[in-house]
Amino acid sequence: MAWWAWLLIQSVVWCCAGVLAVLWWLWVTKPHVDIPGPPTLPIIGNALDFLEHPVTLHKIRDFHRQYGDLMRFYAGPKLVIMVAHPDDVQHILVTSKLVERDPMSTSAMRTFIGDGLLTLNGSRWKTHRKLINPTFHSELLGNFLEAFHEGGLYFSERLASDSAGGAAPADVHTAAFFGAMRSFCSAAVGADPDRLIPDIPEHEVSTSLRHVLAVVQTMMLRPWWRSLSLLRLTSEGRAILKYYGHLRKGVEEAIALRSAATEEGPAKTRRRLLETLVKPGGQTTLPVSEVRDELMTMTMTATDTTAVCMSFALALLALHPEWQDAARRELKDVFGEGGDYLRAPSLAELASLRILESIIKETLRLFPVVPMLSRVVGEEIWLSKGQVPVPKGAILFVTPFLTHRLPQFFPDPLKFDPSRFLEGRSGEEHPCSYLPFGLGSRNCVGSQYARLEVKVFLATVLRRFRFLPHSRWEDLENATLTITIHTVKPIEVYCVPLQESGL
Ligand code: HEM
Repeated sequence: MAWWAWLLIQSVVWCCAGVLAVLWWLWVTKPHVDIPGPPTLPIIGNALDFLEHPVTLHKIRDFHRQYGDLMRFYAGPKLVIMVAHPDDVQHILVTSKLVERDPMSTSAMRTFIGDGLLTLNGSRWKTHRKLINPTFHSELLGNFLEAFHEGGLYFSERLASDSAGGAAPADVHTAAFFGAMRSFCSAAVGADPDRLIPDIPEHEVSTSLRHVLAVVQTMMLRPWWRSLSLLRLTSEGRAILKYYGHLRKGVEEAIALRSAATEEGPAKTRRRLLETLVKPGGQTTLPVSEVRDELMTMTMTATDTTAVCMSFALALLALHPEWQDAARRELKDVFGEGGDYLRAPSLAELASLRILESIIKETLRLFPVVPMLSRVVGEEIWLSKGQVPVPKGAILFVTPFLTHRLPQFFPDPLKFDPSRFLEGRSGEEHPCSYLPFGLGSRNCVGSQYARLEVKVFLATVLRRFRFLPHSRWEDLENATLTITIHTVKPIEVYCVPLQESGL
């Protein structure tokens, strides 16, 4: 053998041995905790348990049945703990005030949306949050109503055209997503939706969105996939990048339009999101790249989340006609049965829709849109009522999709029963057993906006259609674990126009 070949082989062998030695050292010095979890393999930890792709909620539920409310996993040497019991949820999100999200999830999301509220930590997160909080303040909700009404009408038209008079099942998420996108453009950006919404077919956008969420999951579990160059190699990846290109263009156009304004406009005590971030003339309150990233973040979070919630709500109402009838009776009580039954709702009318509100709450209990909230442990904390120490550096996943189904807090947990929220919560009360919008200082910045938008959209379509089931309970349960819950098959319902259904 030539001397250089021998040298090359020796170098490769020693490099591999070096890498293995480091991995082995990381593995043997990994933190230990006294928490049950599946058996591990040296160096890779529990990687084999998450080989199946996509990872479904079923999988985590099986682990929960086996190991209980506190479960430990190892992502290589990294300690990951899933938390379901509300006592621990309270300790993590409220008492210990942990606010940092883990780099595993944030760096995957950062690939697409850059540096915004979802992905930032530390002082930059604080600065963004302080700026954005007031733009979704409850006092502003009245200003958003018209935008929600228009988005709701668009949602309704889309359902009508997709369902061909009730003959074909309609994909709820796509219709709701575009309605929500239109509302967001008007309410938060203050721009004509037709100018900003990507000029590509709606089904392409929603397919891309679905792929994005799948890709984010892949990137979280397989960090070597976190490269846009690799993404470009697949047709799915190219479709995602095309969609992102359009979205980014829309956001940049909104910034340019706002920058081109010469004056602030009528004085307002509170401004819209874009007006807060960009001043007339183009001066920005954050570095320009962060303004763009924040608008991308807010557009993504404001549209997909509410569309997911509406999809599950309509599917559940189709499967539970007694609650659909109750909601419609309430709508008739509030809006009357005269010629203006279909009018835009006022804030006072919306506030009196208590049955509809309890339906939304129960939907979010069974299918919390954001299934897991991640936190990094900054300083050692103690869980399980102070019995289990968790070391600094561990990653915690708070799991509303498990917490919301604990029978001691929600008896008969799989039953869709909105009356739980009508009559106050049944079962043993716990302040942290229900957290669809998170808790503590890192909770959802758009929770009030979301609640109202979903109510307006559902009040709009429930006055126009009777919903019959196409997706079954099993289809709803067959969801994947990504940033937001997405069912493996799109959620579909039949939408029968009310005149034709005789109601
Ligand atoms: C039904 C709809 C929605 C649900 C269930 C929901 C739920 C959540 C949850 C659980 C979190 C994570 C909190 C945590 O990590 O502790 C969150 C964060 C966030 N949500 Fe929502 N959300 C919804 C709609 C919205 C809307 C409409 C917007 C924007 C207008 C929005 C913007 C955000 C942002 C920016 C964050 C990150 C906040 C931060 O880290 O400071 N969400 N949301």
